[in-house]
Formats: sequence, C-alpha cells, structure tokens
Amino acid sequence: MDYTKISEAATFIKSKLNSVPSVAVVLGSGLGPLASEIENPVIISYKEIPHFPLSTVKGHAGNLIFGQINSVNVLCMQGRFHYYEGYSMEEVTFPERVFALLGIKYLIVTNAAGGVNKNFKCGDIMLITDHINFMPNPLIGRNDERFGERFPSMNAAYSKNLRLSALNKAEKLNIQLQQGVYLAGTGPSFETPAEYIMYRQWGASAVGMSTVPEVIVAVHCGMEVLGLSVISNVFNEDIDAVQTHTEVLDNVSVATNKTVALVKAIIADL
Ligand code: HPA
Repeated sequence: MDYTKISEAATFIKSKLNSVPSVAVVLGSGLGPLASEIENPVIISYKEIPHFPLSTVKGHAGNLIFGQINSVNVLCMQGRFHYYEGYSMEEVTFPERVFALLGIKYLIVTNAAGGVNKNFKCGDIMLITDHINFMPNPLIGRNDERFGERFPSMNAAYSKNLRLSALNKAEKLNIQLQQGVYLAGTGPSFETPAEYIMYRQWGASAVGMSTVPEVIVAVHCGMEVLGLSVISNVFNEDIDAVQTHTEVLDNVSVATNKTVALVKAIIADL
C-alpha cells in the first residue's frame, strides 16, 4: 500500500472542500439517488482525484459528493470498486484509506445482496450484524502502522451503537429491518444452488460481491461501521429462478426510497 498516493488523494479532496466530513457513505448498486439528497453538493469526479481508481459497472457512477444531510457533513461515494472488475484489493479499498486520512469517523456501506435466509423478500433491507469473508483479505501484505495494527480484531466490526441507532430509526419510520450476516464472495458469477445452500448453512443471511474488503480496511483504520444490504433477489431451492443484474437493479429500486430515508435518519444523529 502506498501511503504517499493515499495522502495525495486526501490532500486533493481536502483542497476542494470548505469543511471537514465526519461520515462517509458508500452507495451500492441502485442506491445512487441518495446522492441527490445532499445539500450544497460539491461533486468531485473520481477521474480528477490523483490515484483514485475508476468505476466500470452499470448502475455505478464515479463521483465523490460532499455536502450536508440533516446538517451533518457527509462524503458520499457514488460508485464503488469491485474485486471482480479486476482491481486489486488495494485499489478496492483505496477510498477507505483516503477517508481515514481525511479524519472521517463513521463509514456507512450499502449494497445489493442476494438473500439466502428463507424469511427474506426482495426489497427487504438487512442490517448487517457481522460478515463472513470469502474473498482475499485486503490487509494481506506489509502492514502500515500509520493506518492500524497488524492483526486487527473483527470482533465488533459492525458498531453496536450504530446498529441500535438503525433499529431505532427504522422503527420510528415504520420500516421493517431484517438483520443478518453478509457473506462476500468474489463474483462476478452468481452462486450455484449448492453454493447458496452452503452459505446459508454457514450462517449467512445474504450474499454479495462487495463491502467486506471496505469494512475490514475501515475497521483496521479505526472507523465505526454501519452496513445495510438491500435484498435484490432471494434464493429458494424450490423455485427454478435465474438471477440477472437487471433484476438486481429493478428490485433495489423498489427499496430505494425507504433505504434513503433510513440512511438520512441515521446520519442525523451522528
Ligand atoms: N449473489 C451475489 N451477489 C449478489 C447477489 C447474489 O445473489 N444479488 C446481488 N448481489
């Protein structure tokens, strides 16, 4: 990992902002509309930022957007970097290290995920309580102590305080919030039925192709993390269904409004 590159990106972003963000939000597939809720937006294209990777997937724009949500300074990533796009783990998690150098304390990560819990429905929101990493670990390689320790604990990766806040806000907004473990695989192929069943047996409730590397790096850097998955398809071995990326985006859009409302309410209390 190249500290100089990360700090050059952070310095560039700082030079574009008139105040300091305390929260970063990573917008997953189809959740880009949250960005339009940001007041006084300052839009920084990934292309402008030194050393920042570029996003290539449909449904993912490539902007950092700074501004206020409920008077809280936020920095939003409209579009993330996936391992399956061919980026290295260092590139996938580059933004989180930049956030750490910007002094950001809270990271809110969102994604679209496949449900393996039989009680889940398409369009449900799942509060991530924990994860199973079935991807390469992004901390492999020389450790830079300026970010964090060699063997960071993942015992409380998803902040209990933030989870309580999410549950509380969901109740107030009358949004049903599922809870469960998110398992990350590399993708880009969707899982076989045998894999969905295995992941369920391992204790996962939802499966996706992102988020976990970002969370590991954010926790390594000492950030408090909240994760939300929008359930875009549900695996059921009794139904012969095929997952498509279009279906994923369509089903996420059903949940966009409530997800945006929930994230805004959580940010209001940070
Ligand atoms: N599997 C993996 N990733 C996903 C899925 C899925 O079923 N749905 C959305 N992202």
